[in-house]
Amino acid sequence: MAGGFIEKGSSEKNYPGKLTFRVFITCVTAAFGGLIFGYDLGISGGVTSMDPFLKKFFPDVYAKEHNIKPTDNQYCKFDSQVLTLFTSSLYLAALVASIFASKVTRAFGRRLTMISGGVLFLAGAALNGFAQQVWMLIVGRMLLGFGIGCANQSVPIYVSEVAPYKYRGALNMLFQLAITIGIFVANILNYLFAKMENGEGWRYSLGLAGVPAIMIIIGAMFLPDSPNSLIERGQAEKAKEELIKIRGTNDVDEEFKDLVAASEASKQVKHPWSSLLKSEYRPHLTMAIAIPFFQQLTGMNVITFYAPVLFKTIGFGGTASLMSAMITGGCNALATLVSIFTVDKVGRRKLFLEGGAQMFICQLVIAAAIGSKFGTDGNPGVLPKWFALTVVVFICVYVAGFAWSWGPLGWLVPSEIFPLEVRSAAQSVNVSVNMIFTFAIAQVFTSMLCHMKFGLFIFFAFFVIVMSIFIYKFLPETKGVPIEEISLVWENHPYWNKFVKSSAQKNKIAAPDSQV
Ligand code: BGC
Repeated sequence: MAGGFIEKGSSEKNYPGKLTFRVFITCVTAAFGGLIFGYDLGISGGVTSMDPFLKKFFPDVYAKEHNIKPTDNQYCKFDSQVLTLFTSSLYLAALVASIFASKVTRAFGRRLTMISGGVLFLAGAALNGFAQQVWMLIVGRMLLGFGIGCANQSVPIYVSEVAPYKYRGALNMLFQLAITIGIFVANILNYLFAKMENGEGWRYSLGLAGVPAIMIIIGAMFLPDSPNSLIERGQAEKAKEELIKIRGTNDVDEEFKDLVAASEASKQVKHPWSSLLKSEYRPHLTMAIAIPFFQQLTGMNVITFYAPVLFKTIGFGGTASLMSAMITGGCNALATLVSIFTVDKVGRRKLFLEGGAQMFICQLVIAAAIGSKFGTDGNPGVLPKWFALTVVVFICVYVAGFAWSWGPLGWLVPSEIFPLEVRSAAQSVNVSVNMIFTFAIAQVFTSMLCHMKFGLFIFFAFFVIVMSIFIYKFLPETKGVPIEEISLVWENHPYWNKFVKSSAQKNKIAAPDSQV
């Protein structure tokens, strides 16, 4: 996904330039990219908990939900693979699209990819808003997924190329903030539209995804091509003119020279994918796979996608479920701010570990609360007020823990640990692993809940322990380390040094063919 491509600024280079209007427009467009992604993450769960929507498209689920007696097993009332396909299909499509989008981005530039993303997105929103049959919903979600794949591939690269280097780290985090705001807006709209008397509220929830899509199309039309992309496509003169305009100064020679050199050098790296398999890149490859895998195994997307369904399962009414989802969405956005302000002070490792501990405790409390009332037969009897309150409070604290740790850091950390020569390949691995597991969790959640019952939360809690140990033992601190010096961090690491050192020694014997 997105923010991942934006890198931290270097402390060695000091290119002149300021935050110009062009850069500002870029950031706004990038924010719309984040909003689109977040809106889709947040909208489907609320919609699938709306009765008129279920009645129309998933009558079996509707019947099951309503025919279920209080004495029946509540854990399984939403268990339907077609229903979850409605949510998950988007992430599969996004995975496919991001692979193709990387080629379009290289050959035709970032803007075209962004505009195509916006158009696909608009088409998906329209198909969903006017849907009459299930296939229209699923195809619509897939179009949205293709749109997200294009936007998430092009927007962050564009931002990292156009933004003055000093603002890149902050922009990375802002992208995550935009995602959480998108989720929150979706939660609020679901809550409001569910109240519509004619039962068509879900159409507005789904159709309104078209608004950020239009914004991104308009934004991208006004954006200039990035200098890097122009150089890549052989238009060096035009690239320099553009750089002058973007930076708001004529003093761009050094940066321009570096851009040309970087472009030349990246052309030399013929096989970034196979390079990534070399032992000297073992720490990078491990992180590119482990970080997104663990991010999804925190279980956060169970809340993002299915909070309303989850709240309904544990006995909340329709409105109370959507209201509770809105509260957790708000916690997510607010807690992301905490991360933005603390990440460069306390560092990545501390946030990862603190967030992990917080999530772990909350998951155990939630499992115990649900287990004590619903047991294994899913039959809770009358639910007291304290129960609802405990679950909502602990879900909020859990969400906050994720929002200042694995949420933003799951994208920031990979973006700052890959050396340039394998950065794009490693990022693709990172994005793909993230999308695969986002898809998997979205697809199997209702069935996991049906089979694992309250143990589902213990399952995720177990992974939180594993990932915290992983961070503690294997992730070096990257706070304040300039991107060019990142290799030292690995060389000094008690475990990874044997891989990275061997590469340094090798480099002494044979000069590297391509240092970018
Ligand atoms: C994750 C998403 C998640 C979101 C929640 C992102 O960092 O990649 O899967 O839904 O955070 O805020």
